[in-house]
Amino acid sequence: MVDADRTLGGRRLAGMLPDPSGARPAYRRLAHAISALILDGRIALHVRLPAERDLAVALGTSRTTVTAVYDLLRENGYAHSRQGAGTWTALPEGSAPNGVRRLLAAENTAVEGAAAEDTVIDLARAAPGLPGQELTDTLARIAPRLAEQAHTPGYHPYGLPELRAAIAGRFTRRGLATVPEQILVTSGAQHALTLVLGLLCGPGDRVLTENPSYPNALEAMRRARLRTLSVPVTDEGWGADVVEAAFRASVPQLAYLIPDFHNPTGCLMPEEERTRVLRAAQRSGSWLVVDETLAELALDVPAPLPFASHAPPGGAAKLITVGSMSKTHWAGLRIGWLRAPARLVTELAGQRVATDMGGSVLDQLVALDLLGRTDELLRDRLEGLREQRAALGAALDEHFPAWSWSLPPGGLSLWVDLGEPVASALAERARAKGVRIESGSCFATDPGIFEQRLRIPYTAPSATLREAVRRLAVASADGPGPASGAARPRWVA
Ligand SMILES: Cc1ncc(COP(=O)(O)O)c(C=O)c1O
Repeated sequence: MVDADRTLGGRRLAGMLPDPSGARPAYRRLAHAISALILDGRIALHVRLPAERDLAVALGTSRTTVTAVYDLLRENGYAHSRQGAGTWTALPEGSAPNGVRRLLAAENTAVEGAAAEDTVIDLARAAPGLPGQELTDTLARIAPRLAEQAHTPGYHPYGLPELRAAIAGRFTRRGLATVPEQILVTSGAQHALTLVLGLLCGPGDRVLTENPSYPNALEAMRRARLRTLSVPVTDEGWGADVVEAAFRASVPQLAYLIPDFHNPTGCLMPEEERTRVLRAAQRSGSWLVVDETLAELALDVPAPLPFASHAPPGGAAKLITVGSMSKTHWAGLRIGWLRAPARLVTELAGQRVATDMGGSVLDQLVALDLLGRTDELLRDRLEGLREQRAALGAALDEHFPAWSWSLPPGGLSLWVDLGEPVASALAERARAKGVRIESGSCFATDPGIFEQRLRIPYTAPSATLREAVRRLAVASADGPGPASGAARPRWVA
């Protein structure tokens, strides 16, 4: 990050920018690159940009071009100038202060309809938005209930009773009889997993995961100082023999699996393997945490039954199911849950009181209303995802005929094989072209692997996906130059 001396030299800035001799107007590309660096935290706020003449010389371009770059930065709020004092970096009105700007860099995300040249397209997070009207209607419907709730203390460490009942009802309708006492409402699936790890595992405990796996789950394990052991998930899936052997060899305290449209591979664990995995976990006395965040995003197959419905009678004593509205409805709700034996739910609720006392009543009322409309919402969502998946596939075929992937039967992304280990370098260059994406190595349990993979979500509108792939192609054509290597937060969902 550039902020040590509060002044950025022309050569230094030029070294961070793309070659100005390009197809599109150079000043737009340069201004876009500078704003991306600011949003990314790689150029700090309130840093003085080089004098126009110096930057023009360093870039080998005209002074007029640099004047146009600075004009555009000012126009978009990424710079301010003071007479005689130079031009300083800034964030547009309404942007966040320093501490959170890095995360918010990633928030400058998907665009509606055709992507604008200057808008960053976010392919790092596989999370669909909710149509605005849905939320507006929901808020109108829940207003009277919210007013009623306002007369109560409003603390619900287990979750709002009506929402617990609705989540239990959905499990029951999906084929797994469930009572509200088995449900803990959480602030997303990630929160649910963190609570479980906190209660059931201690530093040094062995935890079995998949490789690749959901990066934030792996990060939660690292932060809890757990020892992770992994089973591979290939394009062909898990392989029950491999999973059984891993349980036998490692006897983990806990295993964390994503059997439904696995993130990032999209694989769906066959039913017979589920029974074998359950038995293997039972034999080794391990807790089994099954993440069903993506389970209802079945695009080409019937939605899988809840994993726990495969447990033999009495066989679910150490089985915890984690779920969420983030992918079926909207991640901004921050509503998830876990389903577990009632006694464990009580213990976990005690654990959560120590952290947040309970979730927001407003959010839970919104969730309750939306949950009642799940089937209708999902119908549209799945149709949209099928279309977007096809659009993404066609764009990749057109621009990257050498890349390959297996079509996932559900979920939100393609796990693309680039054929060579260039994902980090490409992801880095893609940022300069307005695409935020992370290398497949982000999903790895160990550094350095899945460098030949990219997880590409199809959650954005088709036109945006086509534009994103076009930009990736431009980034890729820039050649196999090294990635900048600059440290920056890697944050995916
Ligand atoms: C497998 C999996 N689990 C959990 C999460 C996080 O979900 P939430 O937003 O509910 O915390 C995600 C989000 O991408 C996910 O893919």
